[in-house]
Amino acid sequence: MKGLILAGGSGRRLRPITHKTAKQLVPIANKPILHYVIEDLVGVGITDLGIVVGDTAKEIEESVGNGSQWNADITYIHQEEPLGLAHAVLISEPFLGQEKFIMYLGDNMFEDSLHAVVEDFENSSTNARLLLAKVDNPQAFGVAEVDEQGVIKGLVEKPENPKSDLALVGVYLFDSTIHRAVKAIEPSDRGELEITDAIQWMIDEENSIGHKTLEGWWIDTGKKDPLLLCNELILEKIETLLLSQIGETVTLKGEIVTGKNVEIIDSNIQGPVVIGSGVRIERSDIGPYVSIGDECKIEDSSVERSVLMEKSYISGVTQLTKSVLGRKVEIDGKESEVQGSTSLMLGDGTKVNLKNG
Ligand code: G1P
Repeated sequence: MKGLILAGGSGRRLRPITHKTAKQLVPIANKPILHYVIEDLVGVGITDLGIVVGDTAKEIEESVGNGSQWNADITYIHQEEPLGLAHAVLISEPFLGQEKFIMYLGDNMFEDSLHAVVEDFENSSTNARLLLAKVDNPQAFGVAEVDEQGVIKGLVEKPENPKSDLALVGVYLFDSTIHRAVKAIEPSDRGELEITDAIQWMIDEENSIGHKTLEGWWIDTGKKDPLLLCNELILEKIETLLLSQIGETVTLKGEIVTGKNVEIIDSNIQGPVVIGSGVRIERSDIGPYVSIGDECKIEDSSVERSVLMEKSYISGVTQLTKSVLGRKVEIDGKESEVQGSTSLMLGDGTKVNLKNG
């Protein structure tokens, strides 16, 4: 079985972070989301991987390379415009051939293992297998209508009046029937070839479509709050590993991971927290649920529930919370009279001075 990872798309809902960074490369606990996706697929024995890339192709190719670090074989497939998930399948036919494959959206993260789903599908004669999850806001997703016998009757992309709370999550298993389906459908109102329409075509043509409802969490990380929630869920699983010597003026509580050449002085770290290499923290309270990228500098500040990418500098910010900071962001709160917490989403290179007036 092959794997098809979709990593095109413009990341509109994560701007300004995605002005410079592909949404699939935003780090969760200091590792790009796309790397978790690759590990997940390789973990179930799928190593022949196609990655569909768009405008951010260069950055993605730099981060993932030829896949040798995972013993995977990676083929890049260029999508000139983000014309939909079914369009991504359409242009990937030469790579996929007639083989069964698993399609995985490169900004989705899951708790459940794919093992049983992949094995079942490989040995079955079903034409597609979908993963579903119960959600509070089905209007934001593709939604499945399932009858009392558990058979999928229909699928609608982002319906105004959803017929169920079962969303299609970002993993789909297909046999080669999907290639006929993606050629048979027309673009939707948003101008995309929708994968839901292609699967609906398969249902109408009486193909067999299996499904499984997820047990664990699933997150489409394409927006700030889900991204921060995902950071928290992944950090829940870390175990302490300190690659730097931590001085006596520091209190460490909970699970903490640090890289090399980390210097922490007169501070409290409340795990779970991941600290990259070359980070310097002084007179600050960090955590819980903070991921700090390499070479960040934090002084006289408190930071919780946030993702900081590399080389950012935070000084005198009394309560930075629920924030996502790109690379080389600078926040100066030294003379600020801001009371309470500050929550920010800042793109690469942004400089913010919180001083009043
Ligand atoms: C896409 C699919 C949708 C699915 C969702 C899962 O939506 O079109 O059916 O529920 O991914 O993340 P998009 O993220 O393109 O809006």
